[in-house]
Amino acid sequence: MHAQSGVGISGGQARIPATEPTDSDPRDQRYLPATSFRSRRSVLSGAQRETWERLWPELGLSVGGACGDGHGRDEPPLDTRAWFGRQAPLVLEIGCGSGASTLAMAKEEPDIDVIAVEMYRRGLAQLLCAIERERVSNIRLIRGNGIDVLQRLIDPGSLTGVRIFFPDPWPKARHHKRRFLQPGTVGLIADRLLPGGVLHVATDHPGYAEHIAEVGAGERRLCDADPDGRLPISIVRPTTKYETKAHEAGSAVTEFIWLKQ
Ligand SMILES: C[S@@+](CC[C@H](N)C(=O)[O-])C[C@H]1O[C@@H](n2cnc3c(N)ncnc32)[C@H](O)[C@@H]1O
Repeated sequence: MHAQSGVGISGGQARIPATEPTDSDPRDQRYLPATSFRSRRSVLSGAQRETWERLWPELGLSVGGACGDGHGRDEPPLDTRAWFGRQAPLVLEIGCGSGASTLAMAKEEPDIDVIAVEMYRRGLAQLLCAIERERVSNIRLIRGNGIDVLQRLIDPGSLTGVRIFFPDPWPKARHHKRRFLQPGTVGLIADRLLPGGVLHVATDHPGYAEHIAEVGAGERRLCDADPDGRLPISIVRPTTKYETKAHEAGSAVTEFIWLKQ
């Protein structure tokens, strides 16, 4: 596991918006394609399907049109106290993939509740199997778009942390508007964080890192975390398969740790 702190340490289907999305309004970004920029196998193995059918009703929730029978647009925000069966600091991890970081970090911090958000069903199924295998009780899962989740399910000032590790870089210039971290999304995250809450981002893409640094610097409710200061959640992450591949390809990882003022 490793961590660096301080800004920029070198370190279903889309609904098409009627107008071109802007960078600043997360209502437009809600219409981000409900797919990753990499193609993904979505078919579950027999064991994954069996685990999904058994555990999803208790530990999972779907949100948004992309996932069908999800949480309705007019329903109230999540009652996380009822869902986890306790009151504890809450962390949202957006784009958890198959959940390697989610699982390792939740195991290290059993007093913190973690909600993993992902659109890719097979990744969530892998995480669900690992949760059962390793008997981890402080993770819940949401299948849907992170922007919908933040907007519709999470109360303002309710999150102790938001983690976004290796968001899709969408490297082509014409696709940059699809990047998750834009001024509107970061503003939405700042709104949902408690004062003193942490936004922790890591990327292996230099162009996206520059963009993220600019977007974070432009959000006045966020400030750089003091690398030696106390933080309410751990920023120690495991090295995932995704990150190992990035290192092998010669990419440096840039890590951002911001605090909500
Ligand atoms: C490059 S992968 C990184 C996965 C994982 N965080 C890791 O470090 O291995 C990015 C993930 O973000 C998910 N994703 C992309 N846009 C998303 C969104 N708007 N809401 C939720 N998940 C999203 C993708 O499905 C993909 O699994």
